[in-house]
Amino acid sequence: MVNAGRIDPWSSEQSTDYRRIVEKFGLSSVDSTQLPNPGMLHRRGIVFAHRDLDVIVGCMHSSDPFGVLTGLMPSGRMHLGHSMVIEQVRWFQEQGADVTVAVADLEALATRGTSLDKGRKTAISEYVHNYAAMGLDPEMTSVYFQSSRPEVQRLAFTLGKRTNISEFEAIYGFDGETNLAHVQAPLVQVGDIIHPQLEDFGGLRPIVVPVGIDQDPHLRLTRDIAQKTNWFNVKPRKSGGLTIALSLQENNHEQLGVKPDGKVDINSRNNLVDRIGILLSNLGFSDITPNPKHGVIEIPGATLDDRSIIRTKMLSLERELGGMGILPPCSTYHRFAVGMTGDKMSSSKPETTIFMDDSIEEMTKKVKRAHSGGQPTVEEHRRLGGDVSKDVSFQYLQFFFERDDNALSEIRGDYESGRLLAGELKQICIDKATDWLNDLREKRSQWDGRLSEFLAPDAI
Ligand code: TRP
Repeated sequence: MVNAGRIDPWSSEQSTDYRRIVEKFGLSSVDSTQLPNPGMLHRRGIVFAHRDLDVIVGCMHSSDPFGVLTGLMPSGRMHLGHSMVIEQVRWFQEQGADVTVAVADLEALATRGTSLDKGRKTAISEYVHNYAAMGLDPEMTSVYFQSSRPEVQRLAFTLGKRTNISEFEAIYGFDGETNLAHVQAPLVQVGDIIHPQLEDFGGLRPIVVPVGIDQDPHLRLTRDIAQKTNWFNVKPRKSGGLTIALSLQENNHEQLGVKPDGKVDINSRNNLVDRIGILLSNLGFSDITPNPKHGVIEIPGATLDDRSIIRTKMLSLERELGGMGILPPCSTYHRFAVGMTGDKMSSSKPETTIFMDDSIEEMTKKVKRAHSGGQPTVEEHRRLGGDVSKDVSFQYLQFFFERDDNALSEIRGDYESGRLLAGELKQICIDKATDWLNDLREKRSQWDGRLSEFLAPDAI
């Protein structure tokens, strides 16, 4: 996106105040001790924020199904920046998730002029190939193209009804001059994010979308739209407990017990409220106060922890009655590694990042040129120590190349105490990156000619 919201994590990498971002956008902080088998990016605070990740963690604990949705722009080459999301997708998959990968070929066509044919080739040779090498399991991974999945396009179209230009102005900062491709692309992305919950794509289950923090506007839009489609809202009660409130929409009057003249059809409303009462008592709630006339059902004894299961039941009921029954997507947010030049990483500026298929020579040159946190002279360095927060090599070890926490903290200790010189740290980074790139190259070659195993039937 040209203007993906108003978060600018690049503003000045080291000074970006992630805590402020969490507060400002109503995110929750990630506490890696709450995760089963936290991954490297969790343990190091690189995945720092989320929305509703507790729902996903609940599924992991109870072995309930959940999915991951990720998307890629099929333009340019895959680099380290792109690998962070895949590292997380693999972690979710190891914890039991099914994985859906959206190739944003319509978005690339509309916003970057990439032809569908070119987009397809790039998606497979640059991205899917590396995803395979990074360890995604083809049995549980399904790659599709926006251009060949009508259900996604249909959602983009119909869910457009649940938002308007003002919301786009507020979320994305659009104005009257904004090209409509930049309005359509986020709506298709909403379709990407929601469609795995459709019956044909796995059905009702929580879906988590791991993204960089700059993509949060899309998640806010999707959550807002999903919530607006819900026929039943499950909310905390002021005096404790939960309330289920019916949400009247143009397509659900009859099912919710409203006559064409807008008055409550009390028989039909009573039937619906009774049906909800039975669902709740099956869940073990006996203390229920229904108010059929107002379309609310109070459950004073329920706690916030019960919200998720009650919400899921209500969404199933909504589906039985003919509604969409959509959960808001869950999401996680990662920080960015600084680009090798100090700017942001960009496919169009090869010197800012390491590509997945860079040669060892290219990588070495980039690391050697990168900023270090070393002192101007060896003497000062020994006395004052290096600054890891300014050191690109250290950051790249931390974000990508050194998976062993103990080894990493030893490097940090040695650098900060001045034992390790900046040049020596660079050499460690180069050695680790060499192993990393060679390993990936080797694994890529194992997948040569087999990538169709990852493609959905509608993508072949
Ligand atoms: N808009 C995303 C990008 O610019 C690509 C994308 C399309 C995507 N659909 C998605 C990302 C769904 C995450 C989820 O990179």
